[in-house]
Amino acid sequence: MSQNTEATPLVAVIMGSQSDWNVMKNAVDTLEALGILCEAKILSAHRTPDAALKFAVGLQGRGVEVLIAAAGGAAHLAGVMAAHTMIPVLGVPMESKINGLDSLLATVQMPAGIPVGTLAIGKAGAINSALLSAAILAGRHPKIASALAEFRKNQTEKIEANSDPRKA
Ligand code: RP5
Repeated sequence: MSQNTEATPLVAVIMGSQSDWNVMKNAVDTLEALGILCEAKILSAHRTPDAALKFAVGLQGRGVEVLIAAAGGAAHLAGVMAAHTMIPVLGVPMESKINGLDSLLATVQMPAGIPVGTLAIGKAGAINSALLSAAILAGRHPKIASALAEFRKNQTEKIEANSDPRKA
């Protein structure tokens, strides 16, 4: 049962390590630019397993509606979270010592039955995780739908106003 109020974060952004923050800051910045209240926290499926489990189990009761989970290497965080909550979980694979391919495969290759919506590796995935969260929330939150439409319009207009690459 959701207990979301005006002051409750709609989106939780978690990451496996402080070292993921430089990239995941892009997700938080994008959510904030869309006016979506969010929280950010370091949690690890491997290094803080008990806290990660407790966090996942509590999400729905706190009114959080979407979880973004970023991890690198043996990136089990999003999958473990998805196993313990029924809110949508979006996984962002972090760049790693082997270019994030390990992170991507560990995040995307979920067994049938427990889905993780997996985004691109790194910054593009971080930004898109926020935009996809907005799209998921838009049906129930008209202000978020408007903010997302405005974001798309501005993005298009900016490119159309600067469409000659020689003038950059
Ligand atoms: C993962 O291991 C984290 O998500 C991070 O991407 C990676 C490396 O972590 P650190 O060794 O930098 O803390 O759990």
